[in-house]
Amino acid sequence: MNKIYLLTFVALVGLSTLALTKFDSEPALRTTLGAGAADFCPQPQYRSDAWMKNFLAGLSTQKNDDSIIQYLQAQIPTDSHVFSTDQIISIFNTILLDSSRLQAITLMNPYILTLTSQNVVDILGKFIYSQNKMGALKLIANTLSDLTDASKKVIISKFTFSSDQSDATAILNAVSPRNCIYGTITEKVAAFIIDVSGSMDYTFKANGETISRLSYVKQQITKTITDQLKPYQKFNIIIFGNTASQWNTDYVDATPENIQAAIAYINKLTTIGYTNISAGLDLAFNTKQALNGIYLLSDGVPNTGIQTVDGIKKYLTDKNANRTDKVHINTISFIMGGIEKQDERDLSFQFLNAIADVTNGSFKGISG
Ligand SMILES: *[C@@H]1O[C@H](CO)[C@@H](O)[C@H](O)[C@H]1NC(C)=O
Ligand SMILES: *[C@@H]1O[C@H](CO)[C@@H](O)[C@H](O)[C@H]1NC(C)=O
Ligand SMILES: *[C@@H]1O[C@H](CO)[C@@H](O)[C@H](O)[C@H]1NC(C)=O
Repeated sequence: MNKIYLLTFVALVGLSTLALTKFDSEPALRTTLGAGAADFCPQPQYRSDAWMKNFLAGLSTQKNDDSIIQYLQAQIPTDSHVFSTDQIISIFNTILLDSSRLQAITLMNPYILTLTSQNVVDILGKFIYSQNKMGALKLIANTLSDLTDASKKVIISKFTFSSDQSDATAILNAVSPRNCIYGTITEKVAAFIIDVSGSMDYTFKANGETISRLSYVKQQITKTITDQLKPYQKFNIIIFGNTASQWNTDYVDATPENIQAAIAYINKLTTIGYTNISAGLDLAFNTKQALNGIYLLSDGVPNTGIQTVDGIKKYLTDKNANRTDKVHINTISFIMGGIEKQDERDLSFQFLNAIADVTNGSFKGISG
């Protein structure tokens, strides 16, 4: 859609001046990419203190391993927000049995933003038997964001026997760093849905560099698919503004060639108007293949397509109803920089959190 038509369209429906300023100033907002910005990891909204207080109180009343595990299984997915490092450690301090701790790592993993090697060392330190320590490392290694030779060494040194040390080395060498926006892509078939509405041109400071929301997201998705996807996984990239379009007509194997082609597609993306979230979801679900997960990133609330929380919940419940493999949707509300008022940011958090909630996905609310 060209700019003149879009501006006329915007004026016709009487949209806020927000959309107009976005397009007028678009060229000025373009910035160059830099290595510093790519390494920037913004903090999302974590689980509330109230949720944690309730959760820990209930956890401390569980009498045995079985009831602790049942409690963890039932309670951890009741909130789709990620845990902070302090919250993770406080949960570990409350659980005394290794088997429950291992279960806790498994259940918390999708809701962990990233852990540093020091965090991992602290968690491994809670396990007495080296077999359980190794089990814990296997479960938690994919949360590491700082996978350097030095950080690997620190973790490996926590194992006493040389055979354990070589097992730990193998585990660490096999994992890819977790992305603080997209996490770890564990799904066999996954869709990445990216918002390219006009406001994605807003800029923010990332490690001292000015970068637009869209440029930053392009870097992160490129890192994620390059570092993490394996040829046995399938993926597709879908974008939405006024309407949605997709890189491929269906999910394709994550071969090196396909990843290169996806990156070429990502590099060409520019912004195109409204926020039509349901149009993006329509394309993701429009496949006869099994689909395991969707990563949906947006910086707003929909202003066309399905626009209410109840509407989107019903839509997703229906979409999942006839699928044997339910599709989990991990959502990211990405509102760095920009001129949005607090209530607009809150609404975006609410809408995207509802999508994660109704599909048992995780939610990252990022605003700053
Ligand atoms: C948003 O997408 C829906 C299809 O899901 C379409 O019917 C609608 O026209 C789109 N909105 C705009 C403004 O193009
Ligand atoms: C799910 O399947 C039932 C029975 O075949 C059908 O009536 C219903 O329309 C389907 N729902 C969706 C969302 O496709
Ligand atoms: C979400 O989890 C609940 C409780 O475990 C389950 O009943 C529901 O089917 C799940 N929904 C999806 C979409 O996975």
